[in-house]
Amino acid sequence: MTVQSTLRTTAGLDAHDHKTPLATSDLKPRASIDGGRPARRGAHVQIDALQHRYKGMSHNCLNDLNFQVEAGQIVALVGRSGCGKSTLLHLIAGLMQPVAGGVYINGNRVRSTCPRWVVMFQAPSLFPWMTVAQNAALGLRFAGRTADIPTRIPPLLAMVGLTAYADRNVQDLSGGQQQRVALARSLATEPDLLLLDEPFSALDAFTRRALQQDVRRIAKDLGLTVVLVTHDITEAAIMADRALIMAPDPGRIVTDTVLDPGADRHRDSPAFEAERARLATLFEATA
Ligand SMILES: Nc1ncnc2c1ncn2[C@@H]1O[C@H](COP(=O)(O)OP(=O)(O)OP(=O)(O)O)[C@@H](O)[C@H]1O
Ligand SMILES: [Mg+2]
Repeated sequence: MTVQSTLRTTAGLDAHDHKTPLATSDLKPRASIDGGRPARRGAHVQIDALQHRYKGMSHNCLNDLNFQVEAGQIVALVGRSGCGKSTLLHLIAGLMQPVAGGVYINGNRVRSTCPRWVVMFQAPSLFPWMTVAQNAALGLRFAGRTADIPTRIPPLLAMVGLTAYADRNVQDLSGGQQQRVALARSLATEPDLLLLDEPFSALDAFTRRALQQDVRRIAKDLGLTVVLVTHDITEAAIMADRALIMAPDPGRIVTDTVLDPGADRHRDSPAFEAERARLATLFEATA
């Protein structure tokens, strides 16, 4: 992968120890409908008869996947190790092409990566010799949108709690702060779709919990579509509107269920615990 494609498609997340809530008010879509509420600009994703097989494999690792993700929906892909979750995410991102079938974003066949959809992995992949603001602006710079940098970057840094660090070198930041820079960078190009590949798995439980809630809120505020890969049933119940459970050999979707963990998604509430337990039972029965 080239440096540019890495910047377009990767960003880490994390350690999020700020005390003030993240603010998305300055980042909402410019167009407005429905009495001043932000226009939804999340992508619609369609997976059509998708199959994949890596070179040298004797059988497909993904077989005949068919599903859609509605604009603005957060979907968790849940499954055991090796069932093909990351492969599916990479196919959606256009990082590789399937052997059969296709991925369509807003009706267009995905043939390569694009700044409209970003993948977030565990590692932040920042340029160590640049400042926080310069790193956050890289996606805009590579997209040829340098004129947008002065208006887009300050509110994004405020959103991730890093305004005071704008001119600091990223090497001076903690690992968690660096990953928040990467989150700001990935949101700068106003993506329609966030593809998250276990972005919280390396974090401590406290930080992880804060980010799960913050990223869901940011995605909902901005109207983004999100596909989240996770092993963690609790994470799926906290973050997602819907869960797709995958089984291996060959990788396929065995359960598609809407999640209803209560309006506040508070993990101590009976509604949340009931929904988490239902999802865990489904997982054990099908994955
Ligand atoms: N680059 C590759 N070349 C060959 N085989 C691969 C490659 N990447 C993944 N695989 C295989 O494809 C299958 C699916 O792998 P994938 O990484 O998509 O699983 P996963 O569900 O993301 O697993 P995990 O939860 O451990 O991350 C596995 O059998 C894996 O060994
Ligand atoms: Mg994986």
